[in-house]
Amino acid sequence: MRTPLIAGNWKMFKTVRESVAFVTDLRARVSAVTGVTILVAPTFPALPAVAAALEGSGIGVAAQNLHWEREGAFTGEVSAPMLREAGAGWAIIGHSERRTLFGDTDDSVNRKVRSTLTATLTPIVCIGETWQEREANRTLEVLDRQIKAGLDGVTGTELAGSVLAYEPVWAIGTGRTATPAQAQQAHEHIRGRLTQWFGPDAAARCRILYGGSVKPDNAAALMSQPDIDGALVGGASLDTDSFVKIVERARR
Ligand code: 13P
Repeated sequence: MRTPLIAGNWKMFKTVRESVAFVTDLRARVSAVTGVTILVAPTFPALPAVAAALEGSGIGVAAQNLHWEREGAFTGEVSAPMLREAGAGWAIIGHSERRTLFGDTDDSVNRKVRSTLTATLTPIVCIGETWQEREANRTLEVLDRQIKAGLDGVTGTELAGSVLAYEPVWAIGTGRTATPAQAQQAHEHIRGRLTQWFGPDAAARCRILYGGSVKPDNAAALMSQPDIDGALVGGASLDTDSFVKIVERARR
């Protein structure tokens, strides 16, 4: 019932020109792929050109962050309606790099989530524990807090169309992936909480991605888990060969 989703988070990589060249190649290479939602998240300046290059392809475009207000005196920030107009249909919110390096909190994540929903952008809400939290057996408690606070005020209908990404902080950019069993355990817990807080229908429809050192050789095992609905890919999304291979491994 849930279509697998593979999203490439390019972080602060690729110029506008490189981004357009990448998606032009990607578009041609996945033109025959069906049954997988594909997204790329370029840097802000590349959004309009990437959206134009992907027009009519079915490949989505995501922003990597946003500000929750519509407009205002917030130097350096970009709002959800501005991103929508620039060509984004999705927005990554609360990535661990934003939380640790740029001060995102559960509260700001929640404001951003609500503003994307108002602007009809689909939020991709990132959650995940640090290594210390895992070692202290606090993983599930951390996930509960991030879900409850981050999705406060979101309706079941809104949740059903939204995306969560479980990204254990210790697996991001480290080459250290959660095992399929570890990831499934977290995803099952997350879906259980969504069932409890948003109802079984919304929970069954919400896609939950895994992120953290996803590569072509571990993607199939991760995505064969019942509650893993796709991947949020960092490093391996910067290269068309590896990104296309991951997309192919996601087909059900
Ligand atoms: P890596 O795939 O490079 O570990 O990054 C994961 C990530 O942060 C995706 O948002």
